[in-house]
Amino acid sequence: MQQMLVATARPGITSFALGMPAVELFPTAALASAAERVLSVNPVALQYSPPLQSLKQHVRELMKWRGINCREEQIFLTAGAQQGMSLLSRLLLEPGGSVITEELIYAGFQQVLEPFQPKVLTVSTDAQTGMDVEAVEQYLSSGARPSFIYSITDGHNPLSVRLSPSKRTRLVELAEQYRVPIIEDDAYGFLCYENPLPPLRASSERWVFYVGSFSKILAPALRVGWLVVPEELILPLSVIKESTDIDAAPLSQCIVNAYLDTGQLPAQIDMLRTQYRLRRDTMMRALAENFPDAARWTKPDCGFFIWVELPPAVDVDELFRRAVEDEQVAFIPGHAFSVNNKRSSTPSIRLNFSHPTTARIEEGIPRLARVLKSMMG
Ligand SMILES: Cc1ncc(COP(=O)(O)O)c(C=O)c1O
Repeated sequence: MQQMLVATARPGITSFALGMPAVELFPTAALASAAERVLSVNPVALQYSPPLQSLKQHVRELMKWRGINCREEQIFLTAGAQQGMSLLSRLLLEPGGSVITEELIYAGFQQVLEPFQPKVLTVSTDAQTGMDVEAVEQYLSSGARPSFIYSITDGHNPLSVRLSPSKRTRLVELAEQYRVPIIEDDAYGFLCYENPLPPLRASSERWVFYVGSFSKILAPALRVGWLVVPEELILPLSVIKESTDIDAAPLSQCIVNAYLDTGQLPAQIDMLRTQYRLRRDTMMRALAENFPDAARWTKPDCGFFIWVELPPAVDVDELFRRAVEDEQVAFIPGHAFSVNNKRSSTPSIRLNFSHPTTARIEEGIPRLARVLKSMMG
């Protein structure tokens, strides 16, 4: 993955590789004036500080949009979703413990697990309905007691699928029945382009630990995110967190809070949905017009990616090498997201549509298609 990321960062490359938001869509001016206001009236914003209570109030309101009712006492501010998941893993994982995840998941979460070396019990993912919840049940009913189940319910990274309503209900029932918490990674939950569904946390206060972030809806460099967890976990999480970074980016918390005070976030999210929907549709059209008939992909309702399955004969590593060398186009081969380093019999690639402009998408996809077609003869 690291080698691929270096290759994709070369100047002149059209990259569909990383899951980054579009720079030109950041609310830069509004954040600059929020920062200015904070620093001109409140020099304490530069001091070591406890978590900002007024930001928790904003997060509580934000959670209502996602159909989640929670109390401020259940909100734990973090330096992004990544830190939230890392802290939860430190809290929940015991030596020799296990976790349940899908076979293909966000690589950053695999890095979270890495230091704990848990036994990873994997289940497959259906392209239409998401995680195989029956397989989760089989593990649990045959005695497995994982420290948690990891779920990206909406805007799955990398598979871009969402968990179906009936599977949501069943997964929460299983968590409650077997008393196994679910870590629900909702990094993309506010960026649903069609029919948003309530996350798992909306139906279980006790067994779903929700992970949220401002990275995709404001800007990742702010490093501000949050957890919604049972109140009794807040103190142990604070103790663990203090050992890593003392305070979670207090200045950023103040800037995000001042921005949210202006009431501009709903319009910002609406604008992002419109723009990312346009980029998604542009990529869908470019794929339909240029990719060989034997390739398959689904339309994502949410998130930043399109997952493309290719004919079995295609060597995706070679495709990556030739796409970067010959056509200066980059993507991430699907097997890079495999928890067990397994290679599926269906070669796949993950394409990001949020970062490149529509013009970049329109010129980049035909170039990638050209390499693919030349490899398929
Ligand atoms: C599924 C998923 N979860 C979490 C993160 C990390 O988000 P944050 O920037 O809030 O740490 C990402 C980033 O790409 C992601 O794709």
